[in-house]
Amino acid sequence: MIDTHTHIYDEAFLPDAEAMVLRAKEAGITHAILPNVDASTVDAMRCFHAQFPDFTSMMIGIHPTSIQADYQAELDAFNAEISLRASDYIAIGEIGLDLYWDKTYLQEQKKVFEYQIDVAIQLQKPICIHCRDAFNEVVDSLKKFNPAQLNGVFHCFTGTPQMAEQIAKLGNFYYGIGGPATYKNAKFIDQILHIPLSRILLETDAPYLPPVPFRGKRNEPAYVPYVAQKLADIYGITVFEVDEQTTKNVKTLFFGGCNNNF
Ligand code: NI
Repeated sequence: MIDTHTHIYDEAFLPDAEAMVLRAKEAGITHAILPNVDASTVDAMRCFHAQFPDFTSMMIGIHPTSIQADYQAELDAFNAEISLRASDYIAIGEIGLDLYWDKTYLQEQKKVFEYQIDVAIQLQKPICIHCRDAFNEVVDSLKKFNPAQLNGVFHCFTGTPQMAEQIAKLGNFYYGIGGPATYKNAKFIDQILHIPLSRILLETDAPYLPPVPFRGKRNEPAYVPYVAQKLADIYGITVFEVDEQTTKNVKTLFFGGCNNNF
C-alpha cells in the first residue's frame, strides 16, 4: 500500500522517524509521497527524503493557507526550487484553495493556485489539490485550463459522487481517501462506491486526521490499512484487492505506469 499524502517530515516525527518508517513497512506500506507546504518546509522534506530515499517521493508546491498579501516571497522560493531541481519532484503540491480558516486572501490564493497549475502543465507533472470549503472556487480555477492537460488528485476527498462527476470533466483526476472515511459521521463514504476504485488513492495526511481507532493521536503511514479496510467493506472486496488497485492507480498517476517495485 502507498500513502500518497503524508507530512512525515514534520517535526512531530523527529523523535522516532526511523521507528515510524519501520512500523509503516511492517504494516505493508511500501512507499510514501511527501507533499510540500511552503518555503519553510522544503529543507525538512528534502532531509527526510535523503534519509529514506527509496521509501519516499517528493512534491513541490505552496499550500493555500501559506498565501497572504505578501505571497511574492513564497512564489520566488517555489520558482527557484523548480528551476534548480524540478526533476526531484514527482508532482506539484499541495496546492489549492482553503476558505475554511480565512477568506481574506481568496484572490491571492487563486492567483498562486492557477500559477502553479500552469507550471505543472509546462513540466507535465500531476497536481495535488487541497480544497477546503472552496469547491466551486476550485472548479472555477480548473475550468480555465485544458482538461486534456490536467492530471492529479483531490487530496482528502470528502465530497459527493456528483462532485466527483463534475471534477472528472475537468481533467484526469483521482480522489485521495484517508482517516475521515472511518469517522462515524462520514456520510460521504457510504456513497464512495459510486466512484470506481480505479480512481481512488490511499492517504493519511499524517500527522493529521488519524483514522478510527486513533482519533486524537498523531497519525502515521502505518494506519493506512484501517482506511483500506473501510474501503474494502464499502466496495465489498478484500483489502488485498484495494491494495492492488490503488497501488496501480499511484503508478499510473505519479510514475508513468511503470513498476517501481512497490
Ligand atoms: Ni496535507
